[in-house]
Amino acid sequence: MRTVYVNGEYLPENEAKISIFDRGFLMADGVYEVTSVLDGKLIDFDGHAVRLARSLSELDMATPISRDDLLEVHRELVTRNGIEEGLIYLQITRGSDGDRDFVFPDPETTAPTIVLFTQNKPGMIDNPAAKRGAKIISIEDQRWGRRDIKTVQLLYPSMGKMMAKKVGCDDAWMVEDGFVTEGTSNNAYIVQGNKIITRQLGHEILHGITRAAVLRMAREAQMEVEERSFTIEEACAADEAFTTSASAFVMPVVEIDGTALGEGVPGRVSMRLREIYLDEMRKAAI
Ligand code: PDD
Repeated sequence: MRTVYVNGEYLPENEAKISIFDRGFLMADGVYEVTSVLDGKLIDFDGHAVRLARSLSELDMATPISRDDLLEVHRELVTRNGIEEGLIYLQITRGSDGDRDFVFPDPETTAPTIVLFTQNKPGMIDNPAAKRGAKIISIEDQRWGRRDIKTVQLLYPSMGKMMAKKVGCDDAWMVEDGFVTEGTSNNAYIVQGNKIITRQLGHEILHGITRAAVLRMAREAQMEVEERSFTIEEACAADEAFTTSASAFVMPVVEIDGTALGEGVPGRVSMRLREIYLDEMRKAAI
């Protein structure tokens, strides 16, 4: 049984409790982060901690735990649960004032709820899905307008994933005003020759921590990077495509809306970036 963290306590998962009035539960009034663990160490911890603080501040919430204390909780959970390869899920909500109201409770009297738990995922590095490549469908982006804030409102992304599964695919890319925003839980890229194209940052997409690292590494490896919107038609005609996320790193895409990309197998640039990303991040893990 897992040991989880709730509001300052380490508990067996079946003893951890949250109020039914918690605003995360009633209103999706909360934010989250997912940090990967490789070799028992945290990948890009500081990137996630910085984005967490930004998400909270965009929602007028204070950051209730320091970077150092947060690191300690992450490490303690990794140790207590014996995680070598896996994920740490963190969620902070506006807490519970013991009732339901649209008005935010007074932060002086209502403390946020902090929850962290681990997910053991042996085989994340040698993931067979990355060797096969993902099949993608495109769907309309029906999410709210502040996707740069990592809120726990994941119903539409979850529905998108189900739409993909229903037709035998792995994931969905969302399209708004004719342009791809991102995947249901990842950032989206296409490759033309030696050039990597991914949507520019803005309120329309999550500012991926993996995205920032991969673009930096691509530039260091003398690949050309273009941050601009692209269409599904352009993606179908691209040499390669891939996605990035903390949970799947760099994941090659081999098919979009039934059209095979290139040879229909994971592309050279995508696989190279996956290798560079894993190499460098494992060295820098803390
Ligand atoms: N999802 N875009 C969306 C909509 C996401 O949910 C995620 C991450 C990303 C990639 O961000 P990062 O590289 O920081 O993981 C982009 C996490 C992994 C999840 O919900 O499980």
